[in-house]
Amino acid sequence: MSDYLYRDVNKVTTNILQKMRNEGEKIAMLTAYDYSLATLLDMAKIDVVLVGDSAANVMAGYKTTLPITLDAMIYHASSVVRAVNRALVVVDLPFGTYQGNSKEALNSAIRIMKESGADAVKLEGGEEIRESIERIICAGIPVMGHLGLTPQSINKFGTYAVRATEEAEAEKLLKDAQLLEKYGCFSIVLEKIPAEVAKRVTEAVHVPTIGIGAGNATSGQVLVLHDMLGITQAFSPRFLRRYHNLSEEIVRAVGKYIEDVKNLDFPNETEQY
Ligand code: KIV
Repeated sequence: MSDYLYRDVNKVTTNILQKMRNEGEKIAMLTAYDYSLATLLDMAKIDVVLVGDSAANVMAGYKTTLPITLDAMIYHASSVVRAVNRALVVVDLPFGTYQGNSKEALNSAIRIMKESGADAVKLEGGEEIRESIERIICAGIPVMGHLGLTPQSINKFGTYAVRATEEAEAEKLLKDAQLLEKYGCFSIVLEKIPAEVAKRVTEAVHVPTIGIGAGNATSGQVLVLHDMLGITQAFSPRFLRRYHNLSEEIVRAVGKYIEDVKNLDFPNETEQY
């Protein structure tokens, strides 16, 4: 598709995302954690780059997102910001840096904005983090919400199964989404919930919703870059579409390099001084 409405904007802003939502153009978001891959995402004209705390899993090999620190998120975010000119860069506030009190939340968000140069932050949760969200937005920092399967609460959920399959939880999620909009969030991620619930939420709020495992009625979609490129292998949820099998190609290329070194085939005469 080459004729989408906002392809040629120099910089994607939260206002542009709202226009996309209003005009029915879907928003495409992917994660990135480093300079090289973020450069490629921006070249491809992705709308939003999320420096997700999934960096804890993908980059550092932790089982959950809980261990990643604010310093580590700032490191990843500043690498991404140096690469990106066009996309909106959103950064996750990691576990333990905003739930305690709103002053700590504001300090964490300010550190991310000042030290990385990102455009916005993302927080997981609804009504229970109201003060943090409002305080951050009051300071002029745009906030993206995140509802449904919120991985920072995995120890409370006990499972990565689909959320909001029961009406009571779906109702709570719908109410939380409306509250996030009221608090001033510019967008809301909906993770791993039934498509029909995501549709209800998307129709009930005026800000863009971005789905992951939430069907196609949301205003946009997000995937973890390493999953959709097939760099990661173990993670294979139903919602994941793999656009490539990079792990196979990388293992093949590295295998060939090893062979060439062992066989004295690399470097050859043209590859030396
Ligand atoms: O950390 C992350 O990558 C995320 C997305 C899965 C939405 O929060």
